[in-house]
Amino acid sequence: MPRVVRIEIGARTYEVIIGAGLVRTLGGMVSEVTPARRAAALVFDTALPTGLVEEAAGSLAGAGYEVTRIGAVGDEGHKSLGALEAILAAMEASRLERGDPVVALGGGVVGDVAGFAAAVYRRGTVLVQCPTTLLAMVDASVGGKTGVNLRLGDGTTVKNAVGAFHQPRRVAIDVMALGSLPERAFRCGLAECVKHGMLGGDLGDAGLLEHLESGVERVLAREAGALVELIARNVAVKAAAIGGDEREEAAVGGRALLNLGHTFGHAMEPMAGLSPDGDARRAPLQHGEAVGLGLVAACATAEAMGRIGPGLGERVRALLTRCGLPTRVRGLPGDEVLLAAMAHDKKARGGRLRLVLPGGAGRAEVVTDPPREAVVRGLGAIRSA
Ligand SMILES: NC(=O)c1ccc[n+]([C@@H]2O[C@H](COP(=O)([O-])OP(=O)(O)OC[C@H]3O[C@@H](n4cnc5c(N)ncnc54)[C@H](O)[C@@H]3O)[C@@H](O)[C@H]2O)c1
Repeated sequence: MPRVVRIEIGARTYEVIIGAGLVRTLGGMVSEVTPARRAAALVFDTALPTGLVEEAAGSLAGAGYEVTRIGAVGDEGHKSLGALEAILAAMEASRLERGDPVVALGGGVVGDVAGFAAAVYRRGTVLVQCPTTLLAMVDASVGGKTGVNLRLGDGTTVKNAVGAFHQPRRVAIDVMALGSLPERAFRCGLAECVKHGMLGGDLGDAGLLEHLESGVERVLAREAGALVELIARNVAVKAAAIGGDEREEAAVGGRALLNLGHTFGHAMEPMAGLSPDGDARRAPLQHGEAVGLGLVAACATAEAMGRIGPGLGERVRALLTRCGLPTRVRGLPGDEVLLAAMAHDKKARGGRLRLVLPGGAGRAEVVTDPPREAVVRGLGAIRSA
């Protein structure tokens, strides 16, 4: 039986359905939330196996939709206004009307761009997320953040600079879609699971970190049952962070906690030369790898501030290692360069650094202006000679 997690946000409340083989019944799940509609756009990641895209399109057609298929590249460089325009133009060409569903079948990149297209097409149409990476299943497809990166005149790119909050009407998660996901991308999703485990105590699942520790091998083997359980518990933790703080405006707690590890991670992610194992062929760091390193740095910073004892940092480092994620990185620039990059992160306000730091297993809070020496100790914990 599929698991269902409700995202409770008033009139925009929706269900996340998690199971094995759900793409076969995608049409029915979409038609339950758009019963009077006869047309749908299927925006799919071009890296997906043809069979999966056919199965999704066939299921939608079987439920009575005239389906327009729109291919999109699931690569950060294609999370752009150009890609958005191409999707919108294809939707226009198929005469999609406001209220007709856009189904996003892909990783976080395709979900973010297709979601933004749904948010702005005819001033907003229905979005259904059908994520195909572990990261998108436990994180990106839930919560309504959509958007693209903005390329500036000087050639630099600002991540997620343009976007909209646009909640999906439903999220359909089929763990069988992970069968074709490359190993490195799969492991990246586990970093967000470790993050949720570190937040679980405050967000309704104090045992999540331990659950991951006890079953990581089954997850790495991609056993369907283990994946359904892990994803459902992760989505529930994210749901608890979103409930009551849909647009990340809460002064205390709320969605901001989900940025644990991200301020460190965002500083490292754009640094082209960094790689998970020191091999330049695998540069740059992927988002999940940078987040995992950020979690280790956040623990070490919190430890230097006396907020936590040494146990949690060691536990997190050991778990990330079992997940096949790096916990140290070679070639990091000096502290000043990293601190400046962290201060530029969008989570900084008015030039003041705001870090989410653990306060014990399962707990975290936002700390404004942490002592410089403590943050430098955090960075030291992930430096490799
Ligand atoms: N909206 C949010 O709340 C939110 C949260 C976290 C991350 N994000 C965004 O998500 C993006 C990262 O998402 P991601 O980690 O899913 O990466 P991704 O979308 O880049 O996908 C990773 C790679 O896997 C391929 N792929 C996807 N599914 C596949 C499958 N089943 N089989 C084979 N290949 C497959 C993609 O084409 C891509 O090459 C970033 O842009 C990040 O900013 C958004």
